[in-house]
Amino acid sequence: MKRSKRIEALDKRPVNLDGYINEWPEMGFIAMKSPYDPPATIRIENGKIVELDGKAREDFDFLDSFIADYAINIERAEASMAMSSLEIARMIVDIHVSRKEVLEVISGITPMKMTEVINELNVVEIMMGMQKMRARKRPGNQAHITNLKDDPVQIAADAAEGALRGFAEEETTMGVARYAPLDSIGLLIGSQCGRPGVLTQCSAEEATELELGIRGLTTYAETLSVYGTEKVFIDGDDTPYSKAFLNSAYASRGLKVRFTSGSGSEVLMGSSEKKSMLYLECRCLYVTKGAGSQGIQNGSVSCIGIAGAVPAGIREVVGENLVAALLGLECASSNDQSFSNSDMRRTARTMLEFLPGTDFIFSGYAAEPNYDNMFAGSNFDAEDFDDYNVFQRDMQVDGGLRPVKESEVIAVRNKAARAVQAVFRQLGLAEVSDEQVEAITYAHGSKDTLPRDVAADLMSAEDVMKRGITGIDIVKALADSGFTDIAESVLAMLKQRVIGDYMQTAAILDKNFRVMSGVNTPNDYMGPGTGYRVEGERWEEIKRIPHRINPMDI
Ligand code: 5AD
Ligand code: CA
Repeated sequence: MKRSKRIEALDKRPVNLDGYINEWPEMGFIAMKSPYDPPATIRIENGKIVELDGKAREDFDFLDSFIADYAINIERAEASMAMSSLEIARMIVDIHVSRKEVLEVISGITPMKMTEVINELNVVEIMMGMQKMRARKRPGNQAHITNLKDDPVQIAADAAEGALRGFAEEETTMGVARYAPLDSIGLLIGSQCGRPGVLTQCSAEEATELELGIRGLTTYAETLSVYGTEKVFIDGDDTPYSKAFLNSAYASRGLKVRFTSGSGSEVLMGSSEKKSMLYLECRCLYVTKGAGSQGIQNGSVSCIGIAGAVPAGIREVVGENLVAALLGLECASSNDQSFSNSDMRRTARTMLEFLPGTDFIFSGYAAEPNYDNMFAGSNFDAEDFDDYNVFQRDMQVDGGLRPVKESEVIAVRNKAARAVQAVFRQLGLAEVSDEQVEAITYAHGSKDTLPRDVAADLMSAEDVMKRGITGIDIVKALADSGFTDIAESVLAMLKQRVIGDYMQTAAILDKNFRVMSGVNTPNDYMGPGTGYRVEGERWEEIKRIPHRINPMDI
């Protein structure tokens, strides 16, 4: 066939390198509405749910039982289920109906009813819903802080810069799992050096992650994964009950926890029971709520390739973010994995959470170049910082970041790297040379840094675990080496576990360690003139991008 030059040009566009697939409900490739989704029903006898979404209690799987027993407000159920899904959907976008009233009505509906409600909303309505239903008044942002070498000194420098740039939470993970203790220490020190009060997390195998948390080397946990079908849950060696138990283990030591879920995981793991991704994700979110977790990281997350491949898949993703908010959960709304070759498409996808604002717009913005992102790449990375700052300025939207000066960046990176060097020396851990500190101070990514002695690092990492090093040892080492301000911040993070306020829904800390959560600073949006507005000092800060002309200077 003689080819059209127009079509040939279009075929070469990045968007056509992405994967797309027809709807295929039998294998779960269906975003919002599968012909096999159940009817939305509930039946209550003697204060117990005996039928849920078309299934009698005898036929319940463990998700159904858990949801029926822990996730639905039985007192509200009959009244809420009697309302039409359309009526509930309209309440969500009605500025005269408060978040509180919506939460009350929603508390009595089933996962399938929730699926129907979301199906009534187009994306703009879903965004309007998020603007009102987000738990915390002020939106926030989370960074991924990782690198190809698992270099704890680069982690400290990138964490310091990320904190300076405005991230409220920072998360690391490793290529080599055994680096976890050193990287957690680097992240802890770097974050507090950049901006006191930033929360940190190390995504690792569950027992290690829990231990790092209990030792005070991390300050929250996030990757407690839940899934929407029993088979997939069991494949992960888990049940809703075991996840609830793990959640309590963290909570018992005063650590903030959120779960992780997202559409597409059941498809990838080959057991979607022919249900829509949205319905399965609703089940995950009800399990999360039932387990007592304050929040969720969701929005397909690492399975975005699946959601992104089907029709209305991205509408489904922001829809599932809204479901989290409707259940009163903190929502860290993904945008954390590369899913498209097209800059336009990756930006469009992010606008759905950026514009209304979520508790964490990214649940992992790569605060390093994408090649250093050990979570398989993020939708936005360090090379997009200025674009992102311009979006905030163009639209007067708070995306959780701020423009910074080069001199400040260099200063915090250097201080963080020197602090890690000093702490490692004090504690007899692996050597950090002055040349390494210098390279990392000015580096963009790990291609610009010096090699580490991996064998020595891994021995030190083991040593941290064997010697029982805790957050208090880090505080002492910082204080003894003259980094008193960082020592005080790390100590303040440890005190937070005793106070416990940062375990409340959607809690973050400001630089004075004051909690801002859905409890003490709840979202009170009810239309124009209400809710969070970008104004005052925050707006001035957003305006100050480095590449601007000052007419007074001309
Ligand atoms: N469902 C459940 N857990 C997920 N994770 C990422 N995506 C999903 C999802 N769709 C969790 C996994 C993974 C970590 C990065 O986040 O635990 O290891
Ligand atoms: Ca994350």
